[in-house]
Amino acid sequence: MTKELYDIGEAPPVGEVPPKMHAWLIREERFGEPTQSFQQEVVDVPECADDEVLVYVMAAGVNYNNVWAALGIPVNVIKARNKQGEPEDFHIGGSDASGIVYKAGKDVTNVKVGDEVVVHCGTWDRNCPWVQAGKDPMYSPTFRIWGYETNYGSFAQFTKVQAHQCMPKPKHMNWEAAAAYVLVGATAYRMLHGWEEHSVQKDDAVLIWGGAGGLGSMAIQICKAAGATSVAVISSKDKVDYCESLGAKGCIQRRDFDHWGMLPHWKDNVGYGNWLKGVRGFGKALWNVLGEKRSPRIVFEHPGESTIPTSMFVCDTGGMVVICAGTTGYNATVDLRYLWMRQKRFQGSHFANDEQCYAMNQLALKGHLNPCMSRAFTYEELPAAHQLMYENSHPHGNMSVLVGAPEFGLGSTEQEPVPPPIFTLPPQDIHVSPHPYPSSVPLPGIAFDPTEGTEPIMVDDGTKVRDLMFYGLVSCSPDDNVEVVARIMIGNHVHAVVVQEDDQAIGVVSQTDLVLTRQGKTAEEVKGIKARDIMSEGCATCDAETPLSDAVTSMTRMGIHRLVVSENQAGRDVPIGVISMTDVVRKLIVD
Ligand SMILES: NC(=O)c1ccc[n+]([C@@H]2O[C@H](COP(=O)([O-])OP(=O)(O)OC[C@H]3O[C@@H](n4cnc5c(N)ncnc54)[C@H](OP(=O)(O)O)[C@@H]3O)[C@@H](O)[C@H]2O)c1
Repeated sequence: MTKELYDIGEAPPVGEVPPKMHAWLIREERFGEPTQSFQQEVVDVPECADDEVLVYVMAAGVNYNNVWAALGIPVNVIKARNKQGEPEDFHIGGSDASGIVYKAGKDVTNVKVGDEVVVHCGTWDRNCPWVQAGKDPMYSPTFRIWGYETNYGSFAQFTKVQAHQCMPKPKHMNWEAAAAYVLVGATAYRMLHGWEEHSVQKDDAVLIWGGAGGLGSMAIQICKAAGATSVAVISSKDKVDYCESLGAKGCIQRRDFDHWGMLPHWKDNVGYGNWLKGVRGFGKALWNVLGEKRSPRIVFEHPGESTIPTSMFVCDTGGMVVICAGTTGYNATVDLRYLWMRQKRFQGSHFANDEQCYAMNQLALKGHLNPCMSRAFTYEELPAAHQLMYENSHPHGNMSVLVGAPEFGLGSTEQEPVPPPIFTLPPQDIHVSPHPYPSSVPLPGIAFDPTEGTEPIMVDDGTKVRDLMFYGLVSCSPDDNVEVVARIMIGNHVHAVVVQEDDQAIGVVSQTDLVLTRQGKTAEEVKGIKARDIMSEGCATCDAETPLSDAVTSMTRMGIHRLVVSENQAGRDVPIGVISMTDVVRKLIVD
């Protein structure tokens, strides 16, 4: 007769599943910093369905997603699941694991009780018509990240997983190392091998951002295994040996450059020129590492907003920039001329399907993929490991936590097939970059969901445009020259004037238009330029009865600061005033 509950580190006989288990639980009432949110509790071991297995967890990987789960933002994962009909009022996180199969549902054929496995975090409903049609389950509406979007992850003695998530554990790895690499390894594998025509090949040049990070360290090794040449981007010299030992040909120090961020406007000759100087310097550094003037066929992206313009520029003609995150921001600016003329591909990518996970694991089994585990923790230290992540003071590389394994260093039963020399990062090397955003949340905050309890910035409180608008127009005629337009602007303290012809607003000239017009021209040349030549044609308009919140949405969507307010007079829309962001800001102060 099996015991009711086993201590942590005291394994039940293989195949005997006790009714209760120890677990680290997150509950809604203690959402907050990880050390507050995670608490040890004893709960029932879950039942597994016909296509599921129960894995006795030896070690669990630490990922950023469960910092967000602990905080309860941007998604309350417990409430989200309750809404889908799951009754549990707690969350057991953990999206990476190594362990032993203890129980298998009746339809399971790929693993059996006693198998030592690692677990990938992709789940989907096998009855989903898309999945049944044999299509990529990563596009199924039922796709969920196990241990974040699903309950009963690896931060417990037993985890409930779909059988296809189980893959053989590399025998040469100990439990904690085996729990560290699957999530990042499989994500990097799909990015580099999942997009036909751009699957990484022998002799390809590949640029890898964050080469010493979780994804980057996997990407370097996957490139090496394919015979490709990778160049890693890093922020400090002390990571060069590490990246090169993993297989990178060399490194670029990103702090040697300062052209980061969104692209300057293409009409901004000076700004764009300076940006080009920066990005060309970066391209030269890339050629220096490669030893020849060659552009990368694949650029491995995840920083996003800050680096995308550079990635798109340096990517080879016909090449691909593949991206799985936007750690520095989500507004990717692209000079479309390079995109279409040089026929480049900009490809989004998210985790991986079974085929890609298994292929990645083959590399690990053969010793071609080092798990790059930087630090392992005891079971009691699980909240502390997440707290380090929350405070951005965790080491680079991948971290894991012992669960069933009673000590560090257990579980390897064979020599590493081809032991490569692996340097380690300096012990003081910790994260200083902003917190990565969870990759698997259902895009919160992009559309306002009243059921989430979050408020949009501008609610419709009944205020209409007419309540705040400026009546009357500061305008010029299309034939006024730029000096006249500039005087009208300065004299009226406005940043833009409406161009009016026959009582119609036909365009807008802004201060930016004037400044860009002046660039690269003599005062004489500028004198001959008229408002009509430089105005943005047409006017974004609304009527006086438009709710203020709608007017704000129109402005932010178009990236402009004012709308012309028009009124229908005898069948014609006649401009009667302007509503600007300044008016809205003034109201915020009054409120
Ligand atoms: N969609 C998915 O399926 C998926 C899966 C896994 C991870 N992710 C996401 O991918 C991102 C990276 O994950 P990770 O595990 O590799 O994180 P990580 O271990 O923190 O590595 C990220 C690397 O990015 C580099 N970096 C930081 N700020 C940068 C900047 N401003 N410009 C250029 N590089 C910068 C850093 O290296 P240096 O400072 O040396 O440059 C750092 O090593 C995260 O946002 C994560 O949430 C997505």
